[in-house]
Amino acid sequence: MQAAAGSALLWSPYSRAAKPGRGHNAYFAQLNELLKQQGPGHPVLVLDQARMDRNIRRLVESVGKQKQYRIVVKSLPSVPLLQHVMQRSRSQALMVFHQPFLNAVAAAFPAADVLMGKPMPVSAARTFYRKLHNTGAARRFDPGRQLQWLIDSPERLQQYLQLARQLGVTMGVNFEIDVGLRRGGLTEPEQLSAALQVIAANPRHLRMRGLMGYEAHLTGMQASLQHPAVQAVLAAYRGFVQRLQQAGLDPAALTLNGAGSHTLKIYERDHTMNDLAAGSGVVMPTDFDTHHLAAHEPAVFIATPILKRYTGNPFTDQAPENMRRLYYIYGGYWKARMVSPDLVGDTIYQSTNQSPIATSQKIDLQVDDYMFLRPTQSEFVLLQFGDLLAVADGQLTGRWPVFHQTG
Ligand SMILES: Cc1ncc(COP(=O)(O)O)c(C=O)c1O
Repeated sequence: MQAAAGSALLWSPYSRAAKPGRGHNAYFAQLNELLKQQGPGHPVLVLDQARMDRNIRRLVESVGKQKQYRIVVKSLPSVPLLQHVMQRSRSQALMVFHQPFLNAVAAAFPAADVLMGKPMPVSAARTFYRKLHNTGAARRFDPGRQLQWLIDSPERLQQYLQLARQLGVTMGVNFEIDVGLRRGGLTEPEQLSAALQVIAANPRHLRMRGLMGYEAHLTGMQASLQHPAVQAVLAAYRGFVQRLQQAGLDPAALTLNGAGSHTLKIYERDHTMNDLAAGSGVVMPTDFDTHHLAAHEPAVFIATPILKRYTGNPFTDQAPENMRRLYYIYGGYWKARMVSPDLVGDTIYQSTNQSPIATSQKIDLQVDDYMFLRPTQSEFVLLQFGDLLAVADGQLTGRWPVFHQTG
């Protein structure tokens, strides 16, 4: 078969080259032709907008009208990508896990409502305020109103109080509670009562904003709302909510956050929490092929050009059927799994420079064709390739810069 590379054919979704049969199905054959025409010639991350939009709709439907959908920024680490998800979901609520991303979010989304997803050293909080002022973003984003720092211990609450006094600001605080994950946070409602007293004694510097009880330990249980492990989570959560009520606070006026992509769907008929977080379920890395996300569609792919092709397997003529042809791809060793072509054998070795990919002889791709992998997770992998390529209806629709890890 002749290589399509170098042919004068202009790409069209209906071109002969886009037909399946050489190693890609129609979906990947179309992406392959698009990238050969307009791609950068190096490994790149592709986002399928139509699939993302359907995944967003599924999440928003599960959250329902009475709860808030909160977008997990670390899993979708790009301003234009977040903008897209915010528009589609009609949500301004974000969960942030990294100080440089927090400054970027405050600058890019002046109307955002931000909850931190993990407690930060108080020095990171100090850095945030300094950068917010230095960049002028403080004129549009008001952290006192729009930001909830996550507090996991009495010591951290004291540190943040000291910083708030030094800076002369009011800080919104949200308490991480342990509802079974055993990843830190307050373990007993009594600890919350003590923290609320500190807040009440310092109204100029601290404001109670809510609770965050993540329960990723429910992943893999295929749990429904009635599952004992889910009921245990909710019972623990309610214990803290009761403490809020006893202190005269209205839970409905607070952010009672929980869940993640794996578990969000469990709570469709429950109202203990009023704010549910998810990010990865929008793009669906392979780690998220889990029970409650079965209807979601993979929407992010690493696309990488084939650099070299052997007709056979140069290492051995005894190779099993799915390893009788050998390619080398540009890069490799990512947290990712090959998805197209699919008739791929065992890994020979991994290289971040050029990785060998053994396939069946039925796979007949050529040098300069692309191979496609699904990231296993998104928060790290999405940052590794430069601009994300957004694709819709067989066309490139955007080059979306990702966040900087530092800054
Ligand atoms: C506190 C918290 N909430 C929610 C999530 C869910 O994120 P995702 O939906 O991308 O799994 C995470 C992920 O680590 C988390 O740490």
